[in-house]
Formats: sequence, structure tokens, C-alpha cells
Amino acid sequence: MNIQAPFGALHSNLPTRSNSVSCGEIFAIESQNVSYSVKNEKGNLVPILRNCCLKIPSGQFWMLLGPNGCGKSTLLKILAGLLSPTDGFMYVRKPRSFVFQNPDHQVVMPTVEADVAFGLGRFNLTNDETKLRVAKALTAVGMYDYLQRPVQTLSGGQKQRVAIAGALVEECKVLLLDELTTFLDESDQFGVIKAVKNTLSSSEDVTALWVTHRLEELEYADGAVYMEDGRVVMHGEASAIMDSIESRKASYNSTINS
Ligand SMILES: Nc1ncnc2c1ncn2[C@@H]1O[C@H](COP(=O)(O)OP(=O)(O)OP(=O)(O)O)[C@@H](O)[C@H]1O
Ligand SMILES: [Mg+2]
Repeated sequence: MNIQAPFGALHSNLPTRSNSVSCGEIFAIESQNVSYSVKNEKGNLVPILRNCCLKIPSGQFWMLLGPNGCGKSTLLKILAGLLSPTDGFMYVRKPRSFVFQNPDHQVVMPTVEADVAFGLGRFNLTNDETKLRVAKALTAVGMYDYLQRPVQTLSGGQKQRVAIAGALVEECKVLLLDELTTFLDESDQFGVIKAVKNTLSSSEDVTALWVTHRLEELEYADGAVYMEDGRVVMHGEASAIMDSIESRKASYNSTINS
């Protein structure tokens, strides 16, 4: 079984793929002993993350799992630069982009084309360059045929794919995706996962970290990180993490039923 305690001999044991190393960078995401605390109403520090360590190889699709409230979204927001760690070191390849759980919180323009092009407004691109980049990003997530559709007529999963295209159009190198499939039905759920997989296989240097509580999604991942109570407790091959979570569940169930 290839599960690591965070760090130790990670370099030699992490799963690899032929396109996993790009531009000389082995890891697109790295955190070492990242901690995060908040002050409660009495002014005391409450730890949310404790010494979190992880390393995600470039070009791979990794998932971050753990029980409700264990700190997954907080860690993802720190990796996205939306929160600052209280302590520790981290590196995330840039540009990086955070995609939220609820697609309605990030879709801003009336049509698919305008929404994906929105973030390009700050670059000095010609119309043709903009159209080309929008087309490329929408093709990667399988949404090119919806170019002229009003965003409000899309399903939740299609809106998520448009949101991912909005990140890709800015040539984002790291996608940080927080429970995108929570509100989706099964076909939309796998549509979004396949869009991320397709994006990674068609581009050598995009890396994705996907937060989920759905164990069945692990089947699509190259690797996984499992958290409990603000700590990273397992880190390694997705299949090994899945076996380990299932055996933890089985032992928990047998304890409460005995
Ligand atoms: N600003 C804050 N102030 C106080 N507590 C916070 C703050 N941010 C997060 N927390 C707490 O930290 C813990 C971790 O929250 P977080 O949202 O990261 O968990 P999560 O693993 O993403 O949970 P879920 O699976 O429900 O999405 C929770 O107990 C949450 O209530
Ligand atoms: Mg969360």
C-alpha cells in the first residue's frame, strides 16, 4: 500500500505519470507545516489547521477528503491565497484559480462566451485573440457548443464547467476546486470530473486539487490527501487512500454495532 505519512520519503514514492514534470518543477503545490488559527470571542486562538504538509506533483489530478469541518476548504483557500497561514511554508504555481462550490456565486455575465471572456478584460488582447482563448477553454471542458447560451439556462454541472473554463482562459496552472459536485446529479457530477480530467490530459502543465466528500470520485484521481481534525493524516495513491478510508469506516461501524 502506498500511503505516506506527510513528508518523509515522498519524493521516491509518489505516483508519477509521463507528463507529471513540467518546466523543471516536480510539485505544483507544496505545503509544509501550514497552520491556521482564528481568535474566538474571548480573544483566544482556536486552531483550524495544524502543521499540514502535502505535495502535489505537476500535471496531476489530486483529491482532498475528510469529514465535515476537518479544514479542507480552509486549506484550499490558503493554497489559493484567499487566506494567509498563521505559520508554515507553502508554494503554489501561478496563476492559480479557486472555483467555488456554488456555481451561481461565480458566474457573472449573461452568456457563456461573455462570462468566460470576462477575466480577459484586464489583458490587452485583440478580439480574435480573446475569441481563440475562449474557444480553447470551452473546448477543454466540453462546452464549446454552448458558446451563445444564456448562463441561466445551464445545469449546475454545466455552470461549473463554464467556471472552470473561466479559470483556464487566464492560463491558470493550478485549479483549486471546492466540492464542485455537492449540488449536482450523477450525470452532471461525472461531466465535471471528466472536464477536469480532459483539461489535465490535454495540457501538460495544469494541476488540480479537488475537494470532495464523495469516495467514488477517488477512482478518477491520481492521488489523494486525507484530513482529520485540521491535520493531514494520509497522503498518497488514490486507490490506497480509498482502501484505507473504507477500512476505517468498517472498523468504526463494527465498534458502534458491537
Ligand atoms: N473564520 C472562522 N472562524 C471560526 N471558525 C472557523 C472559521 N473558518 C473555519 N472555521 C472552522 O474551522 C473548521 C474547518 O472549516 P472548513 O470549512 O475548512 O471545513 P471543511 O472540511 O471544508 O468542512 P465541510 O466538509 O463541511 O465543507 C470548522 O469547524 C469551521 O467551523
Ligand atoms: Mg468545505
